[in-house]
Amino acid sequence: MINIALPKGRLGERVYKLLCAIGYGCDDYDENSRKLIFADTKGEVNYFWVKPSDVAVYVELGAADVGVAGKDILDEYEPDIYELADLRLGKCRMCVAAKRGWRDDAGVPLRVATKFPHTAEKYYAEMGRDIEIIKLNGSIELAPVLGISDVIVDIVETGTTLKENDLCVYAQISDISARLIANKSAYKFKYGQISSLCEKLKGVIDSDKNN
Ligand code: PRP
Repeated sequence: MINIALPKGRLGERVYKLLCAIGYGCDDYDENSRKLIFADTKGEVNYFWVKPSDVAVYVELGAADVGVAGKDILDEYEPDIYELADLRLGKCRMCVAAKRGWRDDAGVPLRVATKFPHTAEKYYAEMGRDIEIIKLNGSIELAPVLGISDVIVDIVETGTTLKENDLCVYAQISDISARLIANKSAYKFKYGQISSLCEKLKGVIDSDKNN
């Protein structure tokens, strides 16, 4: 039996289809259901559908043996898990963005709006730059437009949200993509099952022409 936590939404659905293709389908699964747990009747796999930012919590605490989490979440929360594979899905970038034409004034602390305070603090600490964090939970792009921050540290995927709000990227912090992660003790005790799943998943991703 292997317990897998997947992020609810498009990325999770895509990973689920790949897992089905390599023999981890779940006959109980119904994508229109609001159920959060699906158990394969052959007793081989359980799926938990989790809020994307919580997958690493379920894996770290051992409720799930493996899961799929964005690198943005892993960098932000630094959970005590193993990162097994870069699935090369859900690709985007963690960036610093600001209003077009913005100029930094190094003499005053930089006001940074973000959902990722740890990531932002770490980035600016390495540069020796004083900042003040404005923690928001979404629509981060509004903060510089309405003047409550100088910059944002946020995910950029297509760049459309920035463009439509007259913002632009000033620096790239990191590349982001979905990662296969594992609970540390499950990795030891279910090594055969977990490494086999990981290798098969990497294989199907390598052969996916859309990837
Ligand atoms: C994310 C991110 C940006 C947007 C970037 O927001 O925080 O706002 O997507 O995507 P784009 O470059 O393709 O425009 P999300 O959709 O998760 O919603 P949120 O505003 O609630 O964080």
